[in-house]
Amino acid sequence: MERVKTGIPGLDEILDGGLPKGTNVLITGGTGTGKSIFCSQFLYKGVEDYNQNGVFVTLEERAEDLRREMLKFGWDFAKYEKENRLGIIDGTSTKLRKRTVKEKYSLIGLDIDALIIEINRICREINAERVVIDSIPSLGLNLDSEKEIRRSVYRLATLLLEIGVTSFVTTETLGEGFSRYGVEEFVSRGVIKLDIVEKENKFVRTIYVRKMRETNFTMEKYPFGIESDGIKIYTRGEVF
Ligand SMILES: Nc1ncnc2c1ncn2[C@@H]1O[C@H](COP(=O)(O)OP(=O)(O)OP(=O)(O)O)[C@@H](O)[C@H]1O
Ligand SMILES: [Mg+2]
Repeated sequence: MERVKTGIPGLDEILDGGLPKGTNVLITGGTGTGKSIFCSQFLYKGVEDYNQNGVFVTLEERAEDLRREMLKFGWDFAKYEKENRLGIIDGTSTKLRKRTVKEKYSLIGLDIDALIIEINRICREINAERVVIDSIPSLGLNLDSEKEIRRSVYRLATLLLEIGVTSFVTTETLGEGFSRYGVEEFVSRGVIKLDIVEKENKFVRTIYVRKMRETNFTMEKYPFGIESDGIKIYTRGEVF
């Protein structure tokens, strides 16, 4: 089985060497738990360290905000975008009902079928092997129709498997549970949960793998930090 290195220190160890190639993983957690940074690191390090091109679909924050935030970690998305090794699809302007003209890739309308066609097209153009979709709740799915939610989430997950990329898709949790809609975890081949927990009057960031098909992962919850060069998982009892 071919394994894909995540680019997140500590995670490959937990995952018995890395992610199964071509899998799709749900990255879930409450607000501010580090989901977007986690996904960005996976994508950026994919290009920088493993020569795997990537596509980031940002539905929550504008591409320009994402670029600026990630530059703080030394990740220069724009540099790789110019080289056609990274693509950012900006889906945020759909809420304004107009295309973000300054972006090379953007979406008009958040129709799930149109989104799937665009992701497919741009993945081919960039020759992407990694994809991030951030986030499912930002797709603006019709909350009254459970059937529609299931169908949309399922179609998205299936497309990612079909095009053969290794992908991270984010969702959010409100308290317990693994997802916003209660369906995302079932259509994903893996689930990783990020959290912020209280420990002796302090808050600690934690991570654990809940599910990863074809993988003998450790059944442990680890602390992690967001450091100047990105996320680091403390797998060896490091002081934090
Ligand atoms: N340069 C940095 N150094 C250290 N910590 C940072 C840095 N930048 C952001 N953070 C921390 O990361 C948190 C946000 O991470 P991120 O945006 O990935 O979370 P998220 O789970 O995607 O949140 P959201 O619910 O807003 O989507 C911030 O609240 C901040 O505490
Ligand atoms: Mg986020």
